[in-house]
Amino acid sequence: MTTPTELDLTDATAFVRHDAYAFWRDVREHRPVYWHEGDPGFWVVARHADVLSCYADVRSLSSARGTVLDVLLSGGDSAGGKMLAVTDRPRHRELRNLMLRAFSPRVLGAVEERVWERTSRLIRTVARQGEFDFAAEVAEHIPMNTICDLLSIPEADREKLLRWNKLALSSEDAESDRLDSLEARNEIIGYFMDLARHRRGDPGDDVISMIATAEAGGRPLTLEEAALNCYSLVLGGDESSRVSAICAVKTFAEHPAQWRALREGTAAVDTAVEEVLRWATPARHFARTATRDMLIGGRQVRAGDIVTLWNISANNDEEVFDQPRRFDPARSPNKHLSFGHGPHFCVGAFLGRAELRALLSALTESVAEIEVCGEPAPVYSNFLNGYASLPVAFR
Ligand code: HEM
Repeated sequence: MTTPTELDLTDATAFVRHDAYAFWRDVREHRPVYWHEGDPGFWVVARHADVLSCYADVRSLSSARGTVLDVLLSGGDSAGGKMLAVTDRPRHRELRNLMLRAFSPRVLGAVEERVWERTSRLIRTVARQGEFDFAAEVAEHIPMNTICDLLSIPEADREKLLRWNKLALSSEDAESDRLDSLEARNEIIGYFMDLARHRRGDPGDDVISMIATAEAGGRPLTLEEAALNCYSLVLGGDESSRVSAICAVKTFAEHPAQWRALREGTAAVDTAVEEVLRWATPARHFARTATRDMLIGGRQVRAGDIVTLWNISANNDEEVFDQPRRFDPARSPNKHLSFGHGPHFCVGAFLGRAELRALLSALTESVAEIEVCGEPAPVYSNFLNGYASLPVAFR
């Protein structure tokens, strides 16, 4: 694999073809904040300290035009100002307070219990098989069901929602796929609008009823806002959790001594979860738009410029992590930025962590050795980091 000094960060294949970690090391050392040419170009922020302060500076760096580079380059996010992740203060705070009520300890406790049940059942089943695809047989079934549990989606609708979501996220290039994907996204929003309308009329003790009936900023959400914010939980929680689970299994298979340490209790499950999150860094970057002229790492950024924050680089910054390319499940402290930082810090972090905790605990109980027995298929994306398939055998 080559180590380029230039990498086209808009190219979905760049990260698979090149040694991106060596690239980022070079960037952190020689030009930690740089202008990436393009139409339009954008700023690239690579050091942990700069990424952290950009996440915190919500007054100068807006999320409302979109938070993913591709979306910003293609004109911005149509959910801006309506969906939590792509909304700025003061509306962001109102929406976030509302959404946080959905994540009460009582709701989360019940959801977490079901995550543990589902995960240990899946692991017990696959542990008896020979070779299998961990992505298809296990990882795919955990996050969507967790979100569906959170939202009390009827069992009968889940398969349909999973199918739409796969289509909506399809990263194929062909025009027909793009149309299918747009259609699937509309189906999901339409589905949540129907559900929100129904539960607004006949509210139950569930999160959609809460979102559909609660007020934010002195008025109830519109049905579209309610639907978009239900959908944002699917968008935020499905793929990122899936690739982290796949990364956990792949990484422990490649590090048998660390796997033994976890099984024998020399490394704790909680610190291992954090190290898996750092190692996986499911979202390579998040992005913002500058609302005023400002300095980032000594570089002059102008109002209107796109600023990209590279978690994948920050999570491997030697200034913060000793020997960052060493996978150390006992690493502590572990100030990774996989869940972001500041006012937009991931609202699903508790669930993301709970899913990994349940997975590692179930695996340590029934799997002595993990072997990767085929070539895993990478995800081609400059945003999502990870694998779409992982052929393995558990012993
Ligand atoms: C926000 C990562 C799981 C829902 C974020 C952000 C990151 C992130 C980096 C900050 C984005 C920004 O600053 O622009 C992850 C990772 C996960 C995960 C790595 C799993 C390992 C989840 C889950 C849910 C969720 C399970 C839902 C149940 C959200 C939402 C936001 C968010 C709604 C927007 C919060 C806001 O803007 O205030 N996530 N996430 N995420 N995440 Fe997660």
